[in-house]
Amino acid sequence: MASSSTIPLCTTTTPSSSSSFFAKPSQLFLQGRNKQSFKVSCNANNTGEHDKNLDGVDRRNVLLGLGGLYGAANLAPLTATASPIPAPDLKSCSRAQINFPEDPPVPYSCCPPKPDDMDCVPYYKFPPMTKHIRPPAHAVDEEYIEKYQLATSNMRGLDTNPNDPRGFKQQANIHCAYCNGAYMIDGKKLQVHESWLFFPFHRWYLYFYERILGSLIDDPTFRLPYWNWDHPKGMRLPPMFDVPGSSLYDERRNPHVRNGTIIDLGFFGEETKTTQLQTMTNNLTLMYRQMITNAPCPLLFFGKPYRLGSDIDPGAGTIENIPHTPVHIWTGTVATPKGEQPIDGVRSYGEDMGNFYSAGLDPVFFCHHGNVDRMWNEWKAIGGKRRDLADKDWLNSEFFFYDENRNPWRVKVRDCLDSKKMGYDYAPMPTPWRNFKPKKTTSGKVPTGSLPPASKVFPLAKMDRAISFSINRPASSRTPQDKNEQEEMLTFNNVKHDKLEYIRFDVFLNTDKTVNEDHELHKAEFGGSYTSLPHVHADHNSCAKGVSFQLAITELLEDIGLEDEETIAVTMVPKKGGEFVSIECVEIKLEDC
Ligand code: C2O
Repeated sequence: MASSSTIPLCTTTTPSSSSSFFAKPSQLFLQGRNKQSFKVSCNANNTGEHDKNLDGVDRRNVLLGLGGLYGAANLAPLTATASPIPAPDLKSCSRAQINFPEDPPVPYSCCPPKPDDMDCVPYYKFPPMTKHIRPPAHAVDEEYIEKYQLATSNMRGLDTNPNDPRGFKQQANIHCAYCNGAYMIDGKKLQVHESWLFFPFHRWYLYFYERILGSLIDDPTFRLPYWNWDHPKGMRLPPMFDVPGSSLYDERRNPHVRNGTIIDLGFFGEETKTTQLQTMTNNLTLMYRQMITNAPCPLLFFGKPYRLGSDIDPGAGTIENIPHTPVHIWTGTVATPKGEQPIDGVRSYGEDMGNFYSAGLDPVFFCHHGNVDRMWNEWKAIGGKRRDLADKDWLNSEFFFYDENRNPWRVKVRDCLDSKKMGYDYAPMPTPWRNFKPKKTTSGKVPTGSLPPASKVFPLAKMDRAISFSINRPASSRTPQDKNEQEEMLTFNNVKHDKLEYIRFDVFLNTDKTVNEDHELHKAEFGGSYTSLPHVHADHNSCAKGVSFQLAITELLEDIGLEDEETIAVTMVPKKGGEFVSIECVEIKLEDC
């Protein structure tokens, strides 16, 4: 259960149902209604004493509307720094937006059924369980596929009762509510993407989804498959999802995903004209960059801090950016370009996979996120500074879910750090990207004297073509100890663009822009990519606030042999939507990991 350092808001007894995981549906129904099965007491025990924890005062409790229970003495420390994101207040759930306020809202409610007592949703306790393996989706046998299909069709069957939180649509709506602006937290829309909440939110989401599937086929050992897109054998839609008429099929996919097409893990809406082999090579390069070179520090991997009171979208981690988002875009329908009329009269917003509100309506979503989740384990296994974050605001952030017995729970990030404790692990597969260090293609240093300095190029109003510039480093010839202490970060400040556009630009070091307009990424000079997909943003003005985009370049500079140089050449190559991108300035900084 939750940490011992935080005394939960509600004093609970464990629901009897959680130890009998696979109750029959009739029993489930009873348990859902039987208030005795989970007793929650909300008043007498909630003295101020209980609401203090080791991190300071939990502001969440006040936000949940129980302020009246606090004495003045307990209110005083509200300025304490602890400010994790609380579980959403279900009373605040309202209509979700497809993208932006000027678009129509999602045509149905994404809010979950309301629990009997919204103010007192108890903390989750793990029921007794044994660990089982999530298999790679391309390698499962017929028996597994049949089970998975049956479980999914049973889940779809629950949709006839729109109040059953286990139903397929309700499960998809969880994603919609958390991601398309249905919940308000502290007066701002809640968003679980583009921040450090990305990995833990989706891990919990899959955990409950998987348990519901298992309970619907009376198989507590059932585990979701993972879409092994980081291995050449898995770089296509897993065949079991490509069977029309099956419960795992979704008609709202881009037709190009069918029949074994190789996926481009950097896909941002533009088909790359290159060979399958080059696409797979690019994919492994992207994986190497996102897992190794660009994610030496936890915040680079998980995403930027997002606390109570922060603006949403502080910045995604490496894997969320690529390949997580491109896989969504590649799988969903082609979004109708802004300002254009759809040919058949039905405007596409990328449904299903290409928009957060509808992504969960494609069963492959959960298979895709299985692999995203697996990357969390793989990244930690690399070692070094690759560890979970220790920040209490991350650890104590909370979400709300229903379990397989239709009981509502609050869960904390700190309780999902070890997937084995959650009853699953990933069937091992080779990770060829791990040794896919690209080789340099340039010999020596590209002369920087003929390039404009960064100060002449920025501020940049739009990136409508590849742009090269020279930039000074804060230090050269850094010792191994320096490098261990601080990471060198190429930092693009105040990157702004229309949040309704698909955006991708690539960054290269020490190269000539003319060689980078091809589609070959497997070179040491390729540093990484900035990406964004259309999404709801806090700022309703489409010219939203800028973000800072950082690339860790310590390893890159070693690989290209530029460690002793004081000035280096940087090239930005727009791949999608560059005409919408503006950047205020660029600098190289040394930062603690
Ligand atoms: Cu919540 Cu893959 O998105």
